[in-house]
Amino acid sequence: MAAVMQQAAAGGRVATRGAIKIEDVVKIYDPEGAAVMAVDHCSLDIAAGEICMVVGPSGCGKTTLLNAIAGFHEITSGRITLDEEVLCSAEQPKAEPGSDRIVVFQNGALFPWKTNLENVAFGPIMQGKLTRLEATEKALSMMADAGLSGVEHNYPGEVSSGVRRRVEIVRALMNEPRVLLLDEPYRALDSLTKSVMHEALLEIYYKNKVTIFFITHDLEEAIFLGHKVAIMTTRPCRPKKVLEVDIPHPRDYSVLTSKRFRELIDETNEAVHEEALKAFAAGEKEG
Ligand SMILES: Nc1ncnc2c1ncn2[C@@H]1O[C@H](COP(=O)(O)OP(=O)(O)O)[C@@H](O)[C@H]1O
Ligand SMILES: [Mg+2]
Repeated sequence: MAAVMQQAAAGGRVATRGAIKIEDVVKIYDPEGAAVMAVDHCSLDIAAGEICMVVGPSGCGKTTLLNAIAGFHEITSGRITLDEEVLCSAEQPKAEPGSDRIVVFQNGALFPWKTNLENVAFGPIMQGKLTRLEATEKALSMMADAGLSGVEHNYPGEVSSGVRRRVEIVRALMNEPRVLLLDEPYRALDSLTKSVMHEALLEIYYKNKVTIFFITHDLEEAIFLGHKVAIMTTRPCRPKKVLEVDIPHPRDYSVLTSKRFRELIDETNEAVHEEALKAFAAGEKEG
C-alpha cells in the first residue's frame, strides 16, 4: 500500500498488476546427489509496481530465487504467484517463462549486429505484436524518455556499458512486462556511472510502473532505489529482515546525504554484515 501511495505521489500511473507472492519456497539442487539447499522456506510479498531489492552475500541463493520466478528452473516446494495466478508450486514445480516477466542479464544480451533502436524494437516485431513502423515509433519514444536520444543508430559496441544497460532495460519494457527481474545489473560499473544509472532507472520506472525485483549486494544501492529491501540470510536464503524504505519517491541523489537514508543504512548494515561474515566463514562463492 505504501508503495502505491508513493507512486501516486510520484505523479505517474499506479500499477495495478505485477504483485508477486513467494510462499514458503524451498530449492534443493541435486536432491538425489549432493543436495545443495539454496533457498529455505522463503516467503516474500511484493506489491504491484513495487521496487523490491534483494540483498545478500554471494552464493546465498538470490539468483536461484530469480530463476524460479522467471521459470528457468524448478522449485522443490512452496509456491510463487503473480497476480494470484500460480507460477510454480510443488505440483507444477517449474514456471512457464513468459514475456510478462523479463530478465535483464548481468552481462547483457543485446544483438551486436543490430543498432540500439533495432534491438529495442525487435521483440514486439518478432512476436507479431506490432508492425515494424509501430515498434520503431514506440522504441524511439521510449528511448527519448530514457535519455537515449542520439544513440539510436549506434551499435551496442559503440556506446558505454552504462548506455547499453539502459538500452537493455528499455528493450525489456517494450514488451510491457508485469515484472522486471534484474540480477546485479550495475555490478561491473564504476561508482560514478552507477550513480547516473540509478537515477536513470528511477526516471524510466516513474514513466513505466512495473514491479521490479532487483538483486544486489550493495546496501546503499538497495536503499536508494527500493520501496522495500529484503536482506537475505546466507545460504540457504530466506529474508532475515524486510525493510520498508520510508523515503518518498520520486528520489534523486540528494537522498544519499539525507539523515533518514543514513539512519536506514545504520539500521540494516549490521544484519547485512553478519550474513556476509557467515558466508565468508562457510567459504561461499558466487553461484
Ligand atoms: N545448477 C546448480 N546446481 C547445483 N548447485 C547450484 C546450481 N546453481 C547454483 N547452485 C548453488 O546454489 C547456491 C546459491 O546460488 P545462487 O542462487 O547463484 O547465489 P547468489 O545469486 O546469491 O550468489 C550456491 O551455493 C551455488 O553454488
Ligand atoms: Mg547471483
